[in-house]
Amino acid sequence: MAVTCWWHYLHILMNEKEIAVRRTFAIISHPDAGKTTLTEKLLLFGGAIQVAGAVKSNKIKKHATSDFMEIERQRGISVATSVMSFAYNDTLINLLDTPGHKDFAEDTYRTLTAVDSVILVIDSVNGVEEQTRKLVEVCRMRDTPIIVFVNKLDRDGKMPFDLLDEIEKELKLSLHPLSWPINMGKEFKGVYNLYDSSLNLFTANQKATEDNTIPIEDINDTVLDERVGDRDAAQLREDVELLQGVYGALDVDKYLSGQISPVFFGSAVNNFGVKELLDTFIRVAPTPQARNTDKRRVEPTENKFTGFIFKIHANLDPRHRDRIAFLRVCSGRFARNTYYKHTRLEKDVRFSNPYSFMAREKDVIEEAFPGDVVGLFDTGNFKIGDTLTEGEMMQFTGIPTFSPEIFKELVNKDPMKTKQLEKGVQQLTDEGVAQLFTQHGGNRKIIGCVGELQFEVIQYRLLQEYGASCAFQPLSFYKACWITGDKKAIEDFVRYKQSNVMEDKDGNLVYLAQSEWFLNTERQNNPKIEFHFTSEFKTAMAK
Ligand code: G4P
Repeated sequence: MAVTCWWHYLHILMNEKEIAVRRTFAIISHPDAGKTTLTEKLLLFGGAIQVAGAVKSNKIKKHATSDFMEIERQRGISVATSVMSFAYNDTLINLLDTPGHKDFAEDTYRTLTAVDSVILVIDSVNGVEEQTRKLVEVCRMRDTPIIVFVNKLDRDGKMPFDLLDEIEKELKLSLHPLSWPINMGKEFKGVYNLYDSSLNLFTANQKATEDNTIPIEDINDTVLDERVGDRDAAQLREDVELLQGVYGALDVDKYLSGQISPVFFGSAVNNFGVKELLDTFIRVAPTPQARNTDKRRVEPTENKFTGFIFKIHANLDPRHRDRIAFLRVCSGRFARNTYYKHTRLEKDVRFSNPYSFMAREKDVIEEAFPGDVVGLFDTGNFKIGDTLTEGEMMQFTGIPTFSPEIFKELVNKDPMKTKQLEKGVQQLTDEGVAQLFTQHGGNRKIIGCVGELQFEVIQYRLLQEYGASCAFQPLSFYKACWITGDKKAIEDFVRYKQSNVMEDKDGNLVYLAQSEWFLNTERQNNPKIEFHFTSEFKTAMAK
């Protein structure tokens, strides 16, 4: 008994140590703001890549809207960069990549369920852009802490105070600048770090190892005038006085609870301001956090392993149906060749070749800890959101599906291949490529996606991987709403709105509204029915 206790205790201690050094995050932005460039610079700091351009060449080309095969090919390559793990100053960083292309936005939302914080890149010239809004909304659902990086200061952009104002208003974020730029565009001279009172002078294309930081005692130090000139020094002092008056010291707890977002300024392509960002990030960003399940909240420090699947990627080789499921470890220690409970299937599964994404290589790993992402080879056992445990029957929550934006009816073009088509559609929807809605009490199938591109991908993959040919008939639905409520009211609604009520792939009832007007009317006419905009209504949203 004493030995068991001791062993148990040692495990907890080891786990706590592993958790303390880990930071798992994603970089999000509107396309072109500089996410890929920033990712690459961060990896250079961690020594994970040697050559600039390595990440970029794997990037899905943002403008390739019709060349879906090229996109699929690049998506395949991007598996390798889906999770980038590297060490920096005794910290183990797991950077989860999110696709830039807006048609794959759902992929991004799901990846955000697996991180503990995010860095949001804003282009100083364009300010807040369309895709940023939605991404921040998704972060807010879970109070994910956000650090803002205002990029492209080497270009003539919006004035910094105006930008802060715009971000605060449009994204409803409370900001707290930790660095402040001295001019911008051609006049850009550098940034003043408010966190540790230092000056960082701008040099284009700074090397990762280069450090142009000049510590200054306080803002009145004459070094400032010598380095940036009297006029800019005076302006900076004025700005800093104003900033300190308004913001004071950073309340890290407020950042950690998602109430305040620190802001940095810089230029990713010039590797400028990136080191400050990274140094502050590893100091303040959250370690792996607790997560909710349908039964209870799971703390990362718990002794027993738990984790969930947040992403599934098909292998591109059409001869193999193998897929890679991405598992986020939530608690305990994941070990190779150990049986775990797949709670949805109530079945024990084990993995002989789980791999990590450390540095450049895909390596088979023996163990993984909370915050880590493990790649599991899957032959069709997993769906997004599936949970693995050491036996406890529970399901992680907080991985909602949002309403698709485009709906099309699936038309089977080859009745001889009906089975293959059904299987293919089932598997692709399990992967989260699209959402499938089946007519309630019927056979009609509607596919919902975020972007047009996904329909092309589905059609192509159904043919290539399953030998099934299909076509899509456009439908003009506005939104999918999951419905719950009084049993009788639901029965009546289903009967009355038969052609608009479908089932999602888990058998939940979904109302497809033709327009906002229809939706509002139905809500008014059916007070006993609740209309939900995400699939996750059965349990409280995970915080
Ligand atoms: P994304 O992943 O968010 O879509 O953006 P990405 O990093 O690809 O950057 C988009 C464009 O912005 C790239 O130029 C990149 O070089 C540029 N960029 C990134 N950071 C900065 C910066 O600090 N200052 C300036 N001036 N430009 C920046 P591109 O012409 O689209 O690509 P490339 O030909 O440079 O590779």
